[in-house]
Amino acid sequence: MSNSVPLTTLRDPASLRILISAERIRQRVAELGEQIDEDLPGDGPIYLIGILKGSFIFMADLARAIRRSARIEFMGVSSYGRGKSSSGEVRVLKDLDVSIAGADVIIIEDIVDSGITLTYLQSLLEARQPRSLRIATLLDKPERRLRPVKVDYVGFQIPDEFVVGYGLDYAEDYRNLKEVCILE
Ligand code: IMP
Ligand code: MG
Repeated sequence: MSNSVPLTTLRDPASLRILISAERIRQRVAELGEQIDEDLPGDGPIYLIGILKGSFIFMADLARAIRRSARIEFMGVSSYGRGKSSSGEVRVLKDLDVSIAGADVIIIEDIVDSGITLTYLQSLLEARQPRSLRIATLLDKPERRLRPVKVDYVGFQIPDEFVVGYGLDYAEDYRNLKEVCILE
């Protein structure tokens, strides 16, 4: 199988190199689902809070890998604008429209980079007094961390490269790739 993905529909053709195959993602997401069920055996629903838009595919697959009943919510935040690096400032564009008081909650992220988005969200949601608050991310770039953040479930640690696919974008493109690819 070729290691590059031809995307003929893009306005600006760029080269993409597969970093994590669809099969590896599938296996890892299944493991994370089992781990979450073991760690949170309680009754009542778990609230999965997907951070738009990058988490949407990971969230859809992870939700189906969890046996405990899950409720699906989304929040929208912006920290990056349209470029490849963070502006360092987080704004809530769409808040929850449900209460999470007393509930088991997992924030679902596509990638932890500087940690700025997650440290902000963590304190925002902690203040709403959930029973438990955990974080799941598909990808983690530990080298880039500016703010320390404890992530409970990490799909893959990756090197400091800009990646796209499986929900992650560059300027809104590439989200629908099945693989995680390095954008070169
Ligand atoms: P942080 O606040 O710097 O941790 O940034 C997290 C957000 O930045 C993620 O939710 C992504 O939307 C975006 N991001 C960081 N690194 C990448 C990348 O390599 N590809 C695509 N988006 C990224
Ligand atoms: Mg993004």
